[in-house]
Amino acid sequence: MRLFFALWPDEPAAEKLAALAAELAGLADGKPVARQKIHLTLAFLGDVDESALAAAMQAPDGLEAAPFEVVLDQVGSFRGARVAWAGCAEPSPALAGLQARLARRLHALGFALDERPFTAHVTLARKVRRALGRRPAEPIAWRATEFALVRSELGKGSYTTLAGWKLG
Ligand code: 2AM
Repeated sequence: MRLFFALWPDEPAAEKLAALAAELAGLADGKPVARQKIHLTLAFLGDVDESALAAAMQAPDGLEAAPFEVVLDQVGSFRGARVAWAGCAEPSPALAGLQARLARRLHALGFALDERPFTAHVTLARKVRRALGRRPAEPIAWRATEFALVRSELGKGSYTTLAGWKLG
């Protein structure tokens, strides 16, 4: 099963992000991500056995983090992954800290995470055919009060939230 930890935007932010997704999909000639699927990944665990689920569920144990503001103030694209995104010029220390602590826990539990530095982004369009230069955008913000462990079902193209943890 394919698992990841993520933050989901609140409704007003999701609405703004869906509008931006339509705009970026047009500019980059890609497919907009559906509003209910728009999220910010904290850690991608990859394809793991069913037996790894229990370990993944333990990762947030005792992880103390207060709610914080997520501010997306840039757009751009990743050429390799062919996605267009909204991201942070500077991820807040709270976001970077939560991500780093969660990643450390997951490493300790034996998960192999991406070695590349964390690039906070929300994918808004996939299969883009045109690259978008990184540029500032009208900020879209929400208050992150919880994060979730999500299962991605590639065949169905759907996400299922398996568990959520409150911040603060
Ligand atoms: P993306 O949105 O930039 O594609 C589920 O696939 C989530 O995990 C997505 O948010 C995806 O990011 C993220 N992810 C991170 N690394 C990934 C990888 N190597 N393969 C697939 N998804 C990855």
